[in-house]
Parts: sequence; structure tokens; C-alpha cells
Amino acid sequence: MSVSSTEVGTQGFDALDASRADQIKSVYVFEAPVRIWHWINALAITVLAITGYFIGSPLPTVSGEASANYLMGYIRFAHFSAGYLLAVGLIGRLYWALAGNHHARELFWVPIFQKAYWQELVGMVKWYGFIARRPGQYVGHNPLARFAMFFMFLLTVIFMVFTGFALYSEGAQAGSWQDKLFGWVIPLFGQSQDVHTWHHLGMWALIVFVIVHIYAAIREDIMGRSSVVSTMISGHRTFKD
Ligand code: HEM
Ligand code: HEM
Repeated sequence: MSVSSTEVGTQGFDALDASRADQIKSVYVFEAPVRIWHWINALAITVLAITGYFIGSPLPTVSGEASANYLMGYIRFAHFSAGYLLAVGLIGRLYWALAGNHHARELFWVPIFQKAYWQELVGMVKWYGFIARRPGQYVGHNPLARFAMFFMFLLTVIFMVFTGFALYSEGAQAGSWQDKLFGWVIPLFGQSQDVHTWHHLGMWALIVFVIVHIYAAIREDIMGRSSVVSTMISGHRTFKD
């Protein structure tokens, strides 16, 4: 029986694949939109934390004519631009939770009613605390990462968007869309300065998350049994042993 060159090609590929099936140790986990969002979001938060810090603790007065300096203006402009980027990025990420694979949804919910989830979370805490052996391998986020990403990252970031746009509405003035959508946040907290204080505190909560997150990602890459940092770059999780 004669076969076309295309069929030979296909058969050849399949045979090769079958012979290597037991060695396949890589799974595609994070799709491109998740990865691109992750790094844009990390950049936006870095800019927001640095500029936000200086909005809260401005530099000493710069010398020269007032008209020659616009330093705080540039700092605030960078803060607001990064703020918009963060908010639009979050909406895009929410869309991808619906359109993407099931790992794209992990950020948005935690299986708090599953006993096994909590048992594995305790196992992860012990592993990070150097008091337990290496736990199982996870294709998506591990149970502790998931907890931190939902409760420490997602909820805080949503809080920052609401309080940030509420503060922005003071400049955009009554009747602006920022005022219509987020103006109610200010009386909820008391007055403007209360929102400033809570918005400021939120920054420190996020900084704590980022420090722990980067430490855990690099530590897990070195000590764990699967790739971590490269997974957020290439999308593939590679298993080591
Ligand atoms: C401001 C800085 C950062 C923030 C706010 C942040 C936030 C996040 C969030 C929310 C996720 C969950 C992604 C999702 O499910 O959609 C995530 C995952 C991840 N991030 Fe970051 N990230 C930051 C910086 C970094 C850096 C610098 C690294 C590398 C050292 C990193 C490595 C990772 C990795 C490897 C994952 C996937 C974890 C896993 O495989 O379970 N992140 N990050
Ligand atoms: C990760 C997210 C964010 C961080 C870490 C952050 C941080 C900060 C900090 C520390 C301040 C100074 C508060 C004070 O002590 O008075 C500030 C002010 C402010 N932020 Fe944010 N922010 C974030 C997101 C946003 C967003 C999404 C917006 C919306 C555009 C926003 C708009 C503002 C405004 C309008 C102010 C007041 C500026 C002023 O009074 O001159 N922020 N931010």
C-alpha cells in the first residue's frame, strides 16, 4: 500500500511521540495572556508602590522657581497612569479567567470547603518552615500560593483600585465617571484623609505579598521538584524527578 508523504510524516511523528511518552515531563500551564498580564501587573505595582510612597512622603522642596519644577506632578502622573494600567489589566485578566484554561481561574477562588485543600496547605506551610519533607508536585499553583494570591493579592488589589479611583474622583470632580462609580467610597471610610491612610496601608500589604511571593518562587525553584519562575515566562511546568 502506498502512502502519501504527509501520512508518512504524521506516522513518523506519532511513533516518535509514543516511544517518548513515559518521559514527557512538561505541561503547558499558563497561557500567554496570563503570563503577559503577570509581568505588566508586576511592573504597574512596582511603579505604583514607588510613586505612591513619594505621594505620601514627598521629597523636600526642590530649589528654583516653582514654574521650573513639576516633580510631584510627574510622580502623580506616573502613579495615575500605572493605576489605569493596573485596573484595565485586572479587567482583562478577569475576562481571561472565563476564556482561558482552568489554571487561569485559580487566582479567583480558593477551595475553602475541601478538607484536603487545608491539609495540603498545612503541608506546604511545614515545607516552607523547613519542618516537613517535600510535598507533592502541583501543575497549577500550590495550595499556599493560591491562598496568598487570592487573600493577599487579589482582594488587596481590588481594594486599591476602589480607594485609588475614589481619591482620583476628588480631582476629577463631582459628576465625573470616577465620582459616579467610586465617589461613595470616601464617606464609607469617613473623609478623604481616611481613604488616603487605608490606601497607603494597602500598599504595605502588597509589598509584604511581593516580598514573600518572590522569595517563595525562587526558593521553590531551587528546592522544589518542578520549574517555577520559568513557568511564568514560557508557560510550561517541567517536573524534575
Ligand atoms: C510586583 C510584583 C509581583 C506581583 C504583584 C506578582 C503577582 C502574582 C500573581 C497574582 C500570580 C498569580 C498569577 C495567576 O494565577 O494569574 C503570580 C504568579 C507567579 N509569579 Fe508573580 N508577581 C510579582 C512578581 C514576580 C516576580 C519578580 C517573579 C519571579 C521571580 C514572579 C514569579 C511568579 C511565578 C513563578 C508565578 C507562578 C507561581 C506558580 O507556579 O504557582 N512574580 N504572581
Ligand atoms: C498597587 C496599587 C497601588 C498602590 C501601592 C498605591 C499607593 C499609593 C500611596 C502609598 C499613596 C499615598 C497615600 C497617602 O499617604 O496619602 C497613593 C495615593 C494615591 N493613589 Fe494610589 N496606589 C495604588 C493604586 C492606585 C490606583 C489604581 C489609583 C487610581 C487611579 C490610585 C490613585 C491614587 C490617588 C488619586 C492618590 C492621591 C494622590 C494625591 O493626593 O496627590 N492609586 N497611592
